Amino acid sequence: METPIIQPKKIVYSGIQPSGTLTLGNYIGALRNFNRFPEDEYQCLYCVVDMHAITVRQDPAALRKRCLELAGIYIASGLDPKKNVLYCQSHVSGHAELMWILNCFTYMGELNRMTQFKDKSAKHADNINAGLFTYPVLMAADILLFNTSVVPIGADQKQHLELARDIAQRFNGIYGDVFTVPEGRFGKVGARVMSLQEPTRKMSKSDPEDTYIALLDPPDVIRRKIKRAVTDSDAEIRFDPENKPGVSNLLSIIAALTDQTPEQAAAELQGQGYGKLKERVTDCVIATLEPLQSEHKRLMADKGYVQGILDENAEIANRMATKMLRKVQRKVGFAERGRR
Ligand code: TRP
Repeated sequence: METPIIQPKKIVYSGIQPSGTLTLGNYIGALRNFNRFPEDEYQCLYCVVDMHAITVRQDPAALRKRCLELAGIYIASGLDPKKNVLYCQSHVSGHAELMWILNCFTYMGELNRMTQFKDKSAKHADNINAGLFTYPVLMAADILLFNTSVVPIGADQKQHLELARDIAQRFNGIYGDVFTVPEGRFGKVGARVMSLQEPTRKMSKSDPEDTYIALLDPPDVIRRKIKRAVTDSDAEIRFDPENKPGVSNLLSIIAALTDQTPEQAAAELQGQGYGKLKERVTDCVIATLEPLQSEHKRLMADKGYVQGILDENAEIANRMATKMLRKVQRKVGFAERGRR
């Protein structure tokens, strides 16, 4: 395939870990925003970050399978794999190579402050490995390798993006303008979808099943989970995250999926009971996820097609990455390469 790498376009880059079930939170906070970059202005790259996934123990066969499934999710959520570069991180060795260099421009103190590291090391106390610690540096390498301008991510990744910016600026300060300093793009409404059972915490696939909606949950499961979602006892539909976190979370979900504000969603349901509110959430979620699910099913029945996409796109990503990597290697003074 001959896809030209059109350099004047701004680069958009994001990644998702193939480490487990994707949730409605991942969809609203990240995935669905990936479609919002006009193709005449932006070249988008979306990565299956399998190298990040092994910072916690994975079953190899399951991980391999989930990589392909996640590629399918990217496509099913509407990303055209001929226009977007959808690929697996481990297929492009430049990620690891740049990461090593960036490791040498990152301070222990910076990594020590990362809240995700603190959380994950508390959760995996038996496996606090160096990869878990340097995870944000690999993420910085992902981003900086491609001259990325825009990084659409969930709000929970803000601190990691800040670090990537700091590393880029530090490196540029020493060697001249090598890296583009990336900007984060955080979805506004519902950028943080909360747990259905503990609505003051982020919806997370590592919590019990009934606290999140998985992207591939069938309609009856979605209906049941929303029915059991925590609300409160004052029976008023009002957007007030501080005092009414459960109801506000449900309103945010409606708002995000219908492109309104949570206040508008609340106004529409004024005077109705929580039963109606939940019905409305259920309808919105099912209407969004059903088409995605049937497309995903179709893709998973044709794994050869998805594999082919990943192979082609890895080649494109490799070419782009090598350009940047060679430049960085020269800047830091690595040995000259003969022309072969
Ligand atoms: N750390 C991100 C997350 O867990 C995933 C990720 C890895 C990423 N590399 C990236 C996101 C580069 C954006 C850009 O959500």
